[in-house]
This record gives sequence, C-alpha cells and structure tokens, in this order.
Amino acid sequence: MSTKLGELNQTKVVEALNANSIGKSIRLCGWVRTRRDSKAGFSFLEINDGSTLKNVQVLAEAKLPNYESEILKIGIGSSVEIEGTVVASPGKEQATEIKADSVKVFGYADPLTYPLQKKGTSMEFLRTIAHLRPRTNTFGAVARVRNEICKSIHNFFQSRGFIYVHAPIITGSDCEGAGQMFKVTTFDLLDVPRKEDKSIDFEQDFFGRPTNLTVSGQLEAEIYATALTNVYTFGPTFRAENSNTSRHLSEFWMIEPEMAFCNLEGNMSVAEEFLKTIFNDVLTNCGTDMQFFNERIDKTVIETLKGIVESDFVRLSYTEAVDVLLKCGETFEFPVSWGIDLQSEHERYLTEKKFKKPVIVCDYPKDIKAFYMRLNDDNKTVRAMDVLVPKVGEIIGGSQREERLDVLEQRMKDAGLDTEEYWWYLDLRRFGTVPHAGFGLGLERTVQFATGMSNIRDVIPFPRAPKSADF
Ligand code: 4AD
Ligand code: MG
Repeated sequence: MSTKLGELNQTKVVEALNANSIGKSIRLCGWVRTRRDSKAGFSFLEINDGSTLKNVQVLAEAKLPNYESEILKIGIGSSVEIEGTVVASPGKEQATEIKADSVKVFGYADPLTYPLQKKGTSMEFLRTIAHLRPRTNTFGAVARVRNEICKSIHNFFQSRGFIYVHAPIITGSDCEGAGQMFKVTTFDLLDVPRKEDKSIDFEQDFFGRPTNLTVSGQLEAEIYATALTNVYTFGPTFRAENSNTSRHLSEFWMIEPEMAFCNLEGNMSVAEEFLKTIFNDVLTNCGTDMQFFNERIDKTVIETLKGIVESDFVRLSYTEAVDVLLKCGETFEFPVSWGIDLQSEHERYLTEKKFKKPVIVCDYPKDIKAFYMRLNDDNKTVRAMDVLVPKVGEIIGGSQREERLDVLEQRMKDAGLDTEEYWWYLDLRRFGTVPHAGFGLGLERTVQFATGMSNIRDVIPFPRAPKSADF
C-alpha cells in the first residue's frame, strides 16, 4: 500500500481533466466506473473520485507488471491509485487522459454482487442502498449541489454581518405549537415511572422534564436577534407529522434568519434576495452537474432557475390569493374558501399557472398560523409570509413576530399554550422589545428545486420519513 496516502499532493479528477494539467506527473485515487480492454495491448479505466461528475480516462498498458495479475481483474466499483502523466487525449470526448506508470488496487468489487452494475437503476432501488448510491452520477451531483447551496447560504449571511447561532436540538418547547414532536427520553418504555394520579413522572426522566427534538430553531434565534440584531441558525429539525409525500421529511435541515428592527416587508426582501443568490451561485458554480440534471432529471431546471434569478417575485395577500383561486375556474380537490390552509394544489396553481414565478403570500388568517406571528389591525390576519415556487410549492415560511407582550400572551392563551412555560420568550417582550422578523428555508426543498429531483428523499443523504429510517 502506498506510503503517500493522506498526503495532500494527490490530484483530483477535476484537475486531471483540465488541459492545464497536460505534462504533469500526478498521483490520483478513486473508484473505477468502467474498464475497456483493447486487443492492441492496453486497457482504459474510467476513474471517478467525486470531485466532478466526469470521469478521467486512464491508459494502462499491458507492459505494466501487474497488468495480467491485477489490472485485468478490475471491475466497476474497484478502488485504485494511479501514478502517471497527464497527456492530451486523442479521443474527442475529453481534452486529457492519464498515461499510467503504475496502477495499484486498494480493493476489488465482485461484479456478481456489486449492486451498481447497471445504468438506469430506479431511485426507489437506490434508496435501499443508501450506502452505495453516492457513487452514482445522480447522487454525486446532488451531494455537490447541496454542498454549494450550504456554502452559498453561509456566504450570504456572513457577507451581511449576520451571526451564526446554534440552536439546541433537544428542547423543552414546541416552537410551532403544533404538537408534532419526537419525544426524547431515557425511560424504559415497558416501565415508565408514574405519579400517584397515574400521570407520567417526568421528574425521574433524564432531564427531569419532558423534552423533544426541535421542530425549529426560531425561538432561540429570536433570543439572539434581540441582542445581536441579525442572526441565523442552520441545523437539523424534526417533525413527527405523518406526511408521506415527495416534499416532506421527518428530519430536515432548516436555515432560519432572524432580524431585529425589521418588519414583514424587509423580511420578504431578504427572502427574495436570498433565494436569488443561492440559485445564481448554483448556476455559476455547478455548471457540469446542472447540465446533467437538465439532461437527465428535469429538462426545464436550468431555465427555471434562471427565470427565478431574473424575476421579481409576486407579492399578494392571502385574501387576494383566495380571490384569484375562487375566480380562476379550476376545480381543486380541496375547495377554496377564506380561512382554509392553502393546499399544495392551490400553491402550485398560483406559482405555476397564474403568475409563472415565485409568489410571496402574506397576511394569512390567524387561526391557521403559529402563535408568534404579529396580529394585524383587522384582528383576523397575521403578518405571515410563505414563499411559493413552481413544483415544490412552499419553500420558505416566515413572519413578523408579535412584539407586544399583551397581544402575544392572549394569542398564546387562545392557542392553548401554557404562558408560564414560555416565560423566557415573553421576557424578550418585557425587556426592550423590538419589532423583528424572520423566516425558515427548508434546505432539502431548496436542493430539490435546484436539481429538479422529484422526491425529497433523494436530496438528503439518509432520509427519515414515516416507516423509513434505514441506514
Ligand atoms: O413553515 P415552517 O414550518 O416554518 C417554521 O418552522 C418557522 N419557525 C420558520 C421561521 O419563521 N423561522 O417551515 C419552514 C420551511 C418550510 O417552508 C419548508 O421549506 C421546510 O421548512 N419544511 C420542510 N421540509 C421538509 N420536510 C418537512 N416536513 C418540512 N416542514 C417544513
Ligand atoms: Mg410553513
């Protein structure tokens, strides 16, 4: 085995493919995608190392000492180290190839049992081999675009002076007040301690109280925004809702900016600029992968992203949106009337058919939105906003927060929440309260939208969904 492993002088496939590398001696490691043998006394190996969608072609001549004994046994999935020289490729497909001085095999992959032999394997099958699917073109490309999006998100906020805050994953509060939380406990489920009145004795549990996995880092972000002004969280969130759709996960990542001295209009502007920046970065920095998605996954994806970067988002109130839906003449599965929660079919009609661009719907009825959203003077609606995009529907949910102590307390009581549990949240309104606003962007819906992948389970490495948490 090479003594040079771990050294940083290893060349990546993406560099070896660049014509500037011609003439360089290199060492490159990766996994074999194909081997083709020529009767003329050489073989071609196609190597991929995840640095780009493309493979580099390696010419291995029969005169190499291990040609018969090892190189001719290399199949798809084998891992190798190549030492050699980058040369101009006579082939039309690529500018460069590598002429190997040595080919070392780290590990073979038995062609009879290696599951990634065939092209065109279904997404459903690939979900059952989540440990190997990153080695496919599609999942490699998804991983790189997801990474680019994360980088773009941090750059967006960091370049604007937002402070990155880490919200806890285990929490005692239910941010959305929707009760869709996973419980965290060390109790033996067969022998849960009870009080005299038979209720569960949480004082004996690990934290001495009921705790859950967080559904959102917003409340903690509000704490930091009311001290540091502009902050954002970026972490995993968990929802125990039984939604078996192509847009829902039980564990997903959310980015939640929170801004003090900001109202709903400011919030909408940040959200719009934020999405445009992300998609522009993907188009600029993930050209090869985006070309692949456009050819293989969704023929409109590049055009759609460009459209978003260039468009002005439509802004309309919930009441106006309901009006549009009532007058449009479409038949919806869920009938429309003022007060209903907009369903995916309604959201998609607005953004795909009516306006053909992203739509920000604001001022929703208070009864269908969370307790923390600022009540409007009409006493019926709150300063909520949802950003809707074609195909995915809601990609961002946010609001201006209720900063008036008395109004917030009343809203919490109406929502059936225990105001004493949220004493610290109310303190933010007791001591130096400020108008503030923020939103949550679903990372996976963003990756889904950017890549055109049809199922959200294929844009997160290890998806968790109802009845599904393998790997
Ligand atoms: O609209 P949501 O529930 O908003 C909040 O959690 C607020 N606390 C955010 C805030 O104001 N700081 O969720 C925000 C976004 C959604 O628009 C969607 O993109 C994503 O999170 N999301 C999900 N993504 C995948 N699977 C699920 N089950 C999701 N639920 C929400
Ligand atoms: Mg929402």
